[in-house]
Amino acid sequence: MESTAAASEIKDISLAPSGQAKIDWVRGHMPVLAAIREDFRREQPFAGKKVAVCLHLEAKTAWFIQVLAEGGALTSACASNPLSTQDDVAAALARSGVEVHARHGAAPAEYERHLEGALGIKPDYIIDDGGDLVHLLHTGRRDLLAGVKGGAEETTTGILRLRRMAAEKALCFPMIAVNDARSKYLFDNRYGTGQSVWDGVMRATNLVVAGKTVCVVGYGWCGKGVALRGKGLGARVVVCEIDPVKANEAWMDGFEVMPMRRAATLADIFITVTGNKNVVASEHFPLMKDGALLANAGHFDVEVDKTALAAMAAGRRPLKPGIEEFTLADGRRLFLLAEGRLVNLAAGDGHPAEVMDMSFALQALTLQYLVDNAAKLGGEVYPVPKDLDDRVSAMRLQALGLEIDALTPEQVAYLASWNV
Ligand code: ADE
Repeated sequence: MESTAAASEIKDISLAPSGQAKIDWVRGHMPVLAAIREDFRREQPFAGKKVAVCLHLEAKTAWFIQVLAEGGALTSACASNPLSTQDDVAAALARSGVEVHARHGAAPAEYERHLEGALGIKPDYIIDDGGDLVHLLHTGRRDLLAGVKGGAEETTTGILRLRRMAAEKALCFPMIAVNDARSKYLFDNRYGTGQSVWDGVMRATNLVVAGKTVCVVGYGWCGKGVALRGKGLGARVVVCEIDPVKANEAWMDGFEVMPMRRAATLADIFITVTGNKNVVASEHFPLMKDGALLANAGHFDVEVDKTALAAMAAGRRPLKPGIEEFTLADGRRLFLLAEGRLVNLAAGDGHPAEVMDMSFALQALTLQYLVDNAAKLGGEVYPVPKDLDDRVSAMRLQALGLEIDALTPEQVAYLASWNV
């Protein structure tokens, strides 16, 4: 099957010039991917390979997919969240020859159809963000499983799903946990989420953060970034956790730590980053202050129980893009941002380009690694090889013009010994 713009399902191809301008802007800030692109253009590592990609379809992602295509891949793309698709970027991507199945605001049935559409190329490899492609391949499209040699997963939530599948021996091809590479989570999850979440909240609300009480729910690498940058913006940050070690870390990082039931009474802004469902739930809404903002930065829109909120509300109305007002019976108003979906992508452009440069560089090198090695791997979740992880950070340092030290032979020998 040929992958063509004509087979694409997008909003409007005439939006392509605006999307292309966005791509042109970000690619100028992604030097690591630029260096990999040069290698790919020369070596054509993906010649004859079909790659289906399920990622947030914004400008950095489009550039990444184009780099894979320049490396010889036949590519198809769909969105990993219905609200993160930027229709102009999708149009530019389709115009460049990638088969795109995505539309901003796609309803659940349409979103599912887009996943199916991306699998229409019968992929040899997949790149997933959150696990939707893997899920579809192992349920409704098992007929395609035999052709899939391997894939890579971008995010914590997706890897949790994959590990459960692998534990039940249900995973039918190797998946590489790109999220778990140090060059990924220490930068993308922490500094990427830390910046882009606040960008999304501020763009949607146009309100000040300084002086507000912010409740960060979940203190993984993403939560750490959101708390750190919230503090930098002048907020008083409280952290809710279920893991005693992470709660201890939050305390030692200088944040208040308390259960959600108490934080619910104090916070002006709630940001969920747990990967779990109903962490802000029906028992919490009645405790909240009038005007509280509810935002989510976890992969799925399940962290704020918006069904319970809607059921409890005496009224609701969309206020402006990205903000919906829910009025409780006593007149208090709670404001849900971006429909409880990833606020950084639904109300913003996602992580900064320099951060996604490293994440997508890892994805690109991981795909190349899979092409060379998938036949030796089984239905398990594998780490990104350490040399690739190190290489991406080294390339980033080089792009920044930073030099670091190297071990002397004497130091190498010392570290390798135990009896000196
Ligand atoms: N841009 C593309 N993919 C992204 C992701 N997973 N998180 C934030 N921004 C992104």
